[in-house]
Amino acid sequence: MERSEPDLESVYRAIGSVPTYRWGYYKNPAYMRELRKGASTKFLSDYKAHPERYVAGELPRLSFADGEFDVTLVSYFLFAYQDRLDYEFHRESILEIMRVTRGEARVYPTVTFEAQPSEYIPMLQSDPALQAFEFTEIKTDFEFLVNSNFFLLVTRD
Ligand SMILES: C[S@@+](CC[C@H](N)C(=O)[O-])C[C@H]1O[C@@H](n2cnc3c(N)ncnc32)[C@H](O)[C@@H]1O
Repeated sequence: MERSEPDLESVYRAIGSVPTYRWGYYKNPAYMRELRKGASTKFLSDYKAHPERYVAGELPRLSFADGEFDVTLVSYFLFAYQDRLDYEFHRESILEIMRVTRGEARVYPTVTFEAQPSEYIPMLQSDPALQAFEFTEIKTDFEFLVNSNFFLLVTRD
C-alpha cells in the first residue's frame, strides 16, 4: 500500500501532458487514477488473503513446469521496453513462455512506449528458432497508449 499510492500519484500527475495517449476509455487522469486505485485495492486484498496465488518470476527463465498453463498473458513488458531489452531477450522470453504454456500466449501491446510498432515482431515471425510457432496480430477495441489496439497471439503451428 505504501508503494502503490506514490506510483498512482506520479502517473496521475505526469500522464495528462503526454501526447501519446488516447482518453476514450479513462476519460481523464483523475478517473484513470480512480480506476487504478480500485484495481490496486482489489489486488492487494486478494494478495493478503491468498498469497499462494501469486508466484514471482523473472523472464527469460521461469520456475514453472512444461505446459503448466492453458493461456499465458504478458502486459506492457515485452515490446514496450525494447529500448532496454534486446531481441535475444525477446526470443528467449517467447520460447520460455511457450515452454510453460499448453495453449496460447497473448502479448499486449505490440508497440513500444513511444507508440511505435515493435520491429521485433517481424523478426520473431521469421526467426528459424521459433519455427514451431505462429504469430498473429489481433486487433482489440482498447487503446490507451496510441496504437496499442493490437495484441500478438502466439500459438503452435
Ligand atoms: C509497465 S509494468 C506492467 C505491469 C502490468 N503487467 C500491467 O500491464 O499493468 C512492467 C512490469 O514488468 C515487470 N518486470 C521487470 N522485469 C521483468 C522480467 N525480467 N520478467 C518479468 N517481468 C518483469 C516489472 O516488475 C513491472 O511490473
